[in-house]
Amino acid sequence: MKVFSILPVLLLWQVGSTWSIKPPRLNVTEELIVGPQDEFFSLRCEGTAKMHWSWTADFTEEDIDVVKISYENHPHSDYTYVSTLTVTKPQSIDTGFYFCAYEGVRDYKANLERADHTYIYVFDGSQGLVNHDFTNKRVTTADELIIGCRTTLPNITVELFKNDEEVTGDTRLSFDPKIGFTYKNLELQDSGMYECRSQYNDSLSTLVSVVIRKFKTVSLHAFSFFFARRNSTLWLCKN
Ligand SMILES: *[C@@H]1O[C@H](CO)[C@@H](O)[C@H](O)[C@H]1NC(C)=O
Ligand SMILES: *[C@@H]1O[C@H](CO)[C@@H](O)[C@H](O)[C@H]1NC(C)=O
Ligand SMILES: *[C@@H]1O[C@H](CO)[C@@H](O)[C@H](O)[C@H]1NC(C)=O
Ligand SMILES: *[C@@H]1O[C@H](CO)[C@@H](O)[C@H](O)[C@H]1NC(C)=O
Repeated sequence: MKVFSILPVLLLWQVGSTWSIKPPRLNVTEELIVGPQDEFFSLRCEGTAKMHWSWTADFTEEDIDVVKISYENHPHSDYTYVSTLTVTKPQSIDTGFYFCAYEGVRDYKANLERADHTYIYVFDGSQGLVNHDFTNKRVTTADELIIGCRTTLPNITVELFKNDEEVTGDTRLSFDPKIGFTYKNLELQDSGMYECRSQYNDSLSTLVSVVIRKFKTVSLHAFSFFFARRNSTLWLCKN
């Protein structure tokens, strides 16, 4: 009985939504560069449904009041909902993706019907890298290794050192200022201490250990033990 009463409502909602829902849109499409002289930056998002903001930047707890979000309604416009996000006294660490999305979006970058994004670089005049935290990374030979030396401007040059020697001409390596270095086709001997150094002389260190992809080892063992010892198969698969 319930199914019958819900169905027409759902249908109406479907028709209504295809008619009126347009993707949200930010007033900064590609990217924005915020320089040391800028006291704040502001993004405006407009849409045809309620929306919210999300970002990848690492605001710390005490920074949270530097982010101000306001909502307005424009009932007689094509885009009824308008929201503005303002970050005051921006810092390098605020560099990252900023998303404006309707309710229920999981993948902000992929769902272009219900979310929009832009990338903001915040350069304070002295730091080339967004963060300087030392990290430990354990990856398998089947993974990609990302060394997260994102930059505070799109054109900052970054050199990569492994155990204090510069890494040059490795075709498995690529750089994107919004990601850092990406290493593909890893081998065990890629383990080591990596350091990114920017042209502003700041650096980020990452201790990397590359291990054999475990799933492969386990399934090989499981196969060879399967007929001899069922018990070990179970044990190996559980790990
Ligand atoms: C986007 O909107 C904000 C808030 O209205 C404004 O401060 C900013 O200058 C706008 N940016 C662009 C590129 O128009
Ligand atoms: C890098 O970009 C900034 C901001 O757009 C610009 O002021 C600077 O001249 C650029 N530097 C180089 C080396 O291209
Ligand atoms: C970085 O260090 C080098 C060598 O110590 C120096 O020549 C250069 O001026 C420094 N660059 C910056 C932006 O501080
Ligand atoms: C089988 O596995 C159980 C625990 O999972 C263990 O106690 C037992 O000793 C194992 N038997 C053999 C023959 O390995």
